[in-house]
Amino acid sequence: MGDLHYGSGSATFFRALFKSAGRESAMMAMCGDLTTRGLIEEARGLAEAISHYDGRIVAVLGNHDYEANNQEEIMDILEEAGVHMLERGVYVTGDNAIGIAGTKGFCGGFLNCRIAPFGERILKMFINETYKEANRINRELKTLKAGFRIVCYHYAPVRDTCIGEHTEVIPFLGSSILSDPVDTFKADLVLHGHAHNGMEKGKTLAGIPVRNVALPVHNKKYALYDTEMFRTHGKDT
Ligand SMILES: [Fe+2]
Ligand SMILES: [Fe+2]
Repeated sequence: MGDLHYGSGSATFFRALFKSAGRESAMMAMCGDLTTRGLIEEARGLAEAISHYDGRIVAVLGNHDYEANNQEEIMDILEEAGVHMLERGVYVTGDNAIGIAGTKGFCGGFLNCRIAPFGERILKMFINETYKEANRINRELKTLKAGFRIVCYHYAPVRDTCIGEHTEVIPFLGSSILSDPVDTFKADLVLHGHAHNGMEKGKTLAGIPVRNVALPVHNKKYALYDTEMFRTHGKDT
């Protein structure tokens, strides 16, 4: 799930959600915007709610988690609660069945409408952030050995899953630069959030399945996926 936006008054809702998710899944990926305003107390509240989940959790941060410049402390708090923060390294299950790389990502638009690193310095700085994030995943996928490889972003790597959002905001919801390493190294699945009003399903140009797991897309519930189903059906899913 993504876009939890944990804030004051969230405790009861998320305790119940994590408890229920623990009964239905073996592993959870949280795709950013874990907090509402990036506050330490929000991260502490989420860490408490997480203790009700019976399974492994990996996560990336979202733009909201950067709002108060507490991103490192938020990651420390969540790590203490047992969450594997993908910004600090990939996660691979003990049997090498599943490997997950992840980072927040950034925006800039899609395909031939994406921003190019050209012209003013500030525009180059803007889009270089997206390249930096994609390069990180490129490096990690290059060496990630696992039976089923997942990439977690906060921002969207394809336009498909942003459909439903206002056209004007779509370039700020993600970038196809983020889908390049996924296609180069043929990952098996990409999860992301951020596009609250988008669609659940999409594909990269190479046909890799993409899923938008933002809570509002799933009526404030987590999405359940079976890796075996993706392995069997691949590009048809
Ligand atoms: Fe969000
Ligand atoms: Fe976001």
